[in-house]
Amino acid sequence: MNDAERQQRDDVSLKEALREEMKRRNMSQSKLSKESGVGSTRLSLWFSGRYSGDNQAVADELQRWLMSVQEESNDTRALCAVPDWEPTPTAKNIVNVLKYAQRAGDMALVYGGAGVGKTCTARYYQDSYPNVWLATMSPAMNTVAACLERVAFAVGISEAQPSAIKTENAIVGRIAQTSGLLIVDEAQHLPVSSLEAIRSVYDATGVGVALMGNESVYTRITGGSRQAHFAQLFSRVGYRVKLGSPTAGDVDALLAAWQIKGRKSHELCKAIAQQAGALRGLTKVLKMSSMMTEDGQSMTFDHIQTAWADLGGTL
Ligand SMILES: Nc1ncnc2c1ncn2[C@@H]1O[C@H](COP(=O)(O)OP(=O)(O)OP(=O)(O)O)[C@@H](O)[C@H]1O
Ligand SMILES: [Mg+2]
Repeated sequence: MNDAERQQRDDVSLKEALREEMKRRNMSQSKLSKESGVGSTRLSLWFSGRYSGDNQAVADELQRWLMSVQEESNDTRALCAVPDWEPTPTAKNIVNVLKYAQRAGDMALVYGGAGVGKTCTARYYQDSYPNVWLATMSPAMNTVAACLERVAFAVGISEAQPSAIKTENAIVGRIAQTSGLLIVDEAQHLPVSSLEAIRSVYDATGVGVALMGNESVYTRITGGSRQAHFAQLFSRVGYRVKLGSPTAGDVDALLAAWQIKGRKSHELCKAIAQQAGALRGLTKVLKMSSMMTEDGQSMTFDHIQTAWADLGGTL
């Protein structure tokens, strides 16, 4: 077999593999052209065997694309095992607060404990109960109008309103009398005026409101030493929970979900969870360790230790 024949044979099997992958991903030739970087005319001529340019260069580019998507789908398969939400003791605690706020139509505050599961529990709760809206704040929400717009979007109002008052009216109209729960995550980004705007929505609708955020949201709501000034807001908060580091039970629950056994692995994971990233950091390490294992092989202490070191961790 000469070089040209060998090239032709390789091209036939590459074309077959590409067609199979495209079928699996339900993708067109033009999408393949975009993703692989091979221009559409070149690609179509190459596929039909009529390309008169450098066939090897086209085949190399397509081979690279194929390898990268296959590698990605292997990794995704390994990552599919990542537990979305586990009923850890902290998560159950948060669920209880949210349930209370919704049922009692009260205002609640869950703060502190970076990476212990506030956001993922809020999402779980939203998926599990009716009329739960999750509005996530950010540093861009530094005006009342921006904050209300974010809340409006969360409750399903997609049309922009011409003024903050119209946005507020639209929100109230949408959620009043629904026995719902508005969860405001990352509430530490809100200035006091926006927190007051949320309070007004709460007063006007009777739905539960749960504010979540880091430690500073508490100071913001209590107003530090100027408590009298903030009494209107603070006195409405019926239930507040301060979270700290993940508990041993939290880590045990996650490790059971990841099917991690062995005393040494457990001790290492507990130590990792006590670092600043808490369960977020631990999950990152476990995700990386799971990608290091061969198919069907379970994660060992060495995998976890290597992943932790690769992510720059030191204990
Ligand atoms: N109950 C849980 N079940 C499964 N994974 C969890 C749980 N709690 C935390 N995690 C993992 O930890 C990560 C961080 O959790 P989450 O984002 O909910 O923390 P947070 O308390 O909102 O942190 P922050 O204060 O930084 O916003 C999650 O993405 C998830 O991987
Ligand atoms: Mg969060």
